[in-house]
Parts: sequence; C-alpha cells; structure tokens
Amino acid sequence: MINASDFGQDFLWGVATAAAQIEGTATQYGKGPSIWDTFTAKNGKIKKNHKLDPACDFYHRYTEDVALVKLLGFKVFRFSIAWSRILPAGRGEINQEGVRFYHNLIDECLSNGITPYITLYHWDLPQALEDEGGWTSFSINAAFNAFVSICALEYGDKVKNWIVLNEPFGYTSLGYMLGVHAPGKTGLSNFFPAVLHTALAQAEGGKILRAEISKANIGTTYSCSEIIPNTQSDNDILAAKRVDCLMNRLFIEPTQGMGFPTAGWDLLEKFQIEYGTWRLQERMKFDFDFIGLQNYFPLVVKYNAFIPVIQAWEVKAKSRKKPHTAMGWEINADSFYNIVKQFAAYPNVKNIIITENGAAYHDKLANGRVEDPERIEYFKLYLEALLKLKNEGVNVTGYMAWTLMDNFEWAEGFTARFGLIYNDFKTQQRTIKDSGYWWQEFLKK
Ligand code: NOJ
Repeated sequence: MINASDFGQDFLWGVATAAAQIEGTATQYGKGPSIWDTFTAKNGKIKKNHKLDPACDFYHRYTEDVALVKLLGFKVFRFSIAWSRILPAGRGEINQEGVRFYHNLIDECLSNGITPYITLYHWDLPQALEDEGGWTSFSINAAFNAFVSICALEYGDKVKNWIVLNEPFGYTSLGYMLGVHAPGKTGLSNFFPAVLHTALAQAEGGKILRAEISKANIGTTYSCSEIIPNTQSDNDILAAKRVDCLMNRLFIEPTQGMGFPTAGWDLLEKFQIEYGTWRLQERMKFDFDFIGLQNYFPLVVKYNAFIPVIQAWEVKAKSRKKPHTAMGWEINADSFYNIVKQFAAYPNVKNIIITENGAAYHDKLANGRVEDPERIEYFKLYLEALLKLKNEGVNVTGYMAWTLMDNFEWAEGFTARFGLIYNDFKTQQRTIKDSGYWWQEFLKK
C-alpha cells in the first residue's frame, strides 16, 4: 500500500476543474457567450441534448466547493478562467463583475491554504472571436495575448502558478477537424490553421506571463496516450507513428524549438510548406517551467487505408477484452508510465506535473452514499505507476485528480461522472463518493 508521504513532503496534490464544465451562469453577471454555449444550444450535438447551464452552479457555490477541496485534503485547486467572463466580446471592454469573481475565488482558496493553479484557456472561446474564425484566424493571437496580459496584471500578485492552454490537441482536433466539439468545424483547412495559431498562443502566452509576473511558475498541458501498433506489421507501425505525431508530439515539439514533427509524413510536410511554419519556429519556442500531462488511456492502432488523413483506426479496449471505464477507455497504468517517460525524454522538459488523470463510472447515489470501488482501484494503480516514475528519477512533482465533482463532460453532457464528489444536477447537492474519502485518507498519511 502506498501513501502520499512516499512521494515526499513537497509533492503537490491537487484536484482539477474547468470553468465551462462547472460554473453555470453562462449568460449572467456580464458574461458573454462562449462557443460551448452556442454549441450546446443546438440539438443533436450533446448526448441526451443536455444543456450546459447551470452545470454545477459553481459560480454561486464556490465557497462550499473550495471547502470541499480542503476537506478532502488537497493543497492545490486547478480551475480555469472563462475568457468571455472577463472579456464578453473576446477583446475590448472588461467585465468587472467577472474580474471580481475570480478575485473572490482566488482569495477563498488562499484563505483556506489552497494554492490555485489557473488555466487560461480550457476550451471556452468567446463566441465573438469564433465569429471571426476563432482559432483558424490569425487575429486570435493578438486577442489571446491581450487576455493573458489582463489576467496576469490582475491576478499575478496573488497567483504564481499558471497553465497557458488545456490540451491543445483536444480542442483543435475535436473542435476544428472532427467537429464533435465546439465550434463544430471540420477538415484540414480548419485544423491546420488552428494548430498553427494554437502553437503560437502557447509560447506567446508563456512569454507574457514571464514578463508580467515575478516568480511565476509557468506551464501548459498536453493530453498524452501511449500509441501501440496492433501488430508488428510495417503498416501498423507506420499508422502508430502517425497517430503519435498528432496526439503526442504535435504541440510539445514546437515549444522545444523543434518545429512541428513533420519528418517523413507528406501530409504534415505540406502543412509546413503551405503555412510557412518554419519561419515561426523561434516564435513557437518557450521554455516552460513545467509541462502538465493528462493521461486517460493508451491507443492501439491498426492501419486502414480508407481512413482519411491518418490511415489508422483504433482497436477499442472492449473488443480487445481489456478492462475499461464507462467511457470505454482502457485502464492501463503501464501505458501511463510509458507515455510519461516519452515526454520526460525531451531534453528541455524540466518538470512534469500530472495535471489530470481519473475515471468515469456509472455512479449511483443510494442512501446518501456513492460506492465507487473501481475508481479507488484506478487511482491506486496509477499512483503506483507514478511513484515508480518518481523513484526512477523522472522529475514529476505533482498530481491533480480529474475531477472535484461530476460535471459537464463536453459531448457526453452530464452522463459521464468523473468526480470524487457526486453531484445531483437537479438539486446541486454534493455527496462525497467513497473515492473522495479514500483520497482524504490517502492524503492524511
Ligand atoms: C480532458 C479535459 O481537459 C477535461 O476537460 C475533460 O473533462 C477530461 N479530459 C475527461 O475527458
């Protein structure tokens, strides 16, 4: 049995959230609409047509929720700032009520001895900017930089830990190539410019934070998955390499001064040439203080000539008869270990924090209790792998569980429960799950 103390005194233990997934009050207190407000208002986009608002009504209940973070024993609370709450039109006029909300939230954390880690962009782009093309438009960079600057000047005296972007591959691929997330755009002609502007935004955002906040600890996060070829055939190996380029390497390599990982793939080479990205290599570089990694599953891939772009197909955990969560995501702590090692091997990655990891299950509230033994097992497995990484000298300095409470899981609506705390979305009543109590015990030791 492992304990929190095995990770050392200074190890950071936290719990993560994101504005759009919890706050609610989408059109109140001066907030402008985000692309997720627009997207969820359309029928057929979200499971069961769930609407985003009021989510967990965190805007009104943050004191109660910060008290829960403390009660569970976490020392770090990761949350994001909703861009359109600060700048309803994405740029220009500032909504002072929104500014005050995050001051209050930060103060609430600090007075409870909880260190805030703030994500600047967790997918909720102001709709007004999407109307100009969103991440596909080069005007996004100036707007994002101005937003980062406002947040840095406003909160930088109190908050030292910053995350520029949340999972850039997540929103560029799901939102601008596959169209299953907001803003629902598809195709490479949207994906490529979104990738380029995102790669610029992560570096420029980092540079602004460094210039404007003294002693800032600056990071950005990446989704990551070990990519495993289905067989050792040349085709499957090639398919796995391509998926790895997109899912793991695409955004970290530009920060390292390596540009995009194009070598040997004509599609990405064409992207480089068409967009002249090599000229921007210096601008896309930034020396982050830490890299946030978010891991949920490995991917087993198989070559398939009929799949456009990547000619690869996922062989699902279920069909491979592997243990998986309610999302169908394979539970595999060895693959977590392997992918963290892959990222740790970049020479300029100094420090890694696991900024998300967790599991969804079909939780039921019965007699005031939520029994979720699978989630407890999940955390134990992943924490053991984490300890192994640490003991082998990988510089992992923190772990944040996803997520504090059940919330709006994007295209899955409210059907996927990832929380350590159960939320009844009708009454907004919070009930600590057994896994939440497990964390409380774990963190005590
Ligand atoms: C990644 C995202 O950052 C977060 O918003 C999401 O809820 C979790 N993964 C689970 O899918």
